Amino acid sequence: MTEIIVIIMAYLLGSIPSGVWVGQLFFQTDIRQHGSGSSGTTNTFRVLGKNAGTVVLILDIAKGTVAAFLPVWFGLSLHPMIAGIFAVIGHVYPIFAGFKGGKAVATSAGIVLGAQPLLALGLLIIWGSILYTSSMVSLASIITAVIAALASLFLGDLIFAVIIWTAMVLVLVRHRSNIERIRKGEENRVPFGRNRSG
Ligand code: G3P
Repeated sequence: MTEIIVIIMAYLLGSIPSGVWVGQLFFQTDIRQHGSGSSGTTNTFRVLGKNAGTVVLILDIAKGTVAAFLPVWFGLSLHPMIAGIFAVIGHVYPIFAGFKGGKAVATSAGIVLGAQPLLALGLLIIWGSILYTSSMVSLASIITAVIAALASLFLGDLIFAVIIWTAMVLVLVRHRSNIERIRKGEENRVPFGRNRSG
């Protein structure tokens, strides 16, 4: 029973639409009406700037990390990643924002940070390198998600691997429009790195 309460808590935590609320509270803007239409970190940086983007980045990662720790705090044997994936589902389909949320990246990073900090560090380096080379956040996120899924096969933790593969599928599904733009050479680029915009 407590397991179910923890899973619901994780989903509700993930459902906190940081980008939407920061935009509405401080900028009177629904970021989902602008840029890529996502409520996530990248679109917050794009639409509302660095300060708001940084706050949303921290909050979206924290949602995943805190969710992954919930089973431990409640003394449960429930795998941290099971609670974590419900936070990711909440982030993507938030009950507090009409089920229109982010693209699963920052909160997935948060659950990996909580469960496997070293892997999270390695993935951050890979993500940063791809971002620097391509100047495309989406490309960095997609490739890193696939690498994370492949890496999870070598960790000897079946549940961890199943959850990471689930998160990868969510990332890929939510990046369909990005994949289409990358294919056409029309994807948004950030203003730094080797192939920066402008
Ligand atoms: O984390 C989301 C990122 O990979 C892409 O975001 O807003 O450019 O579609 P966006």
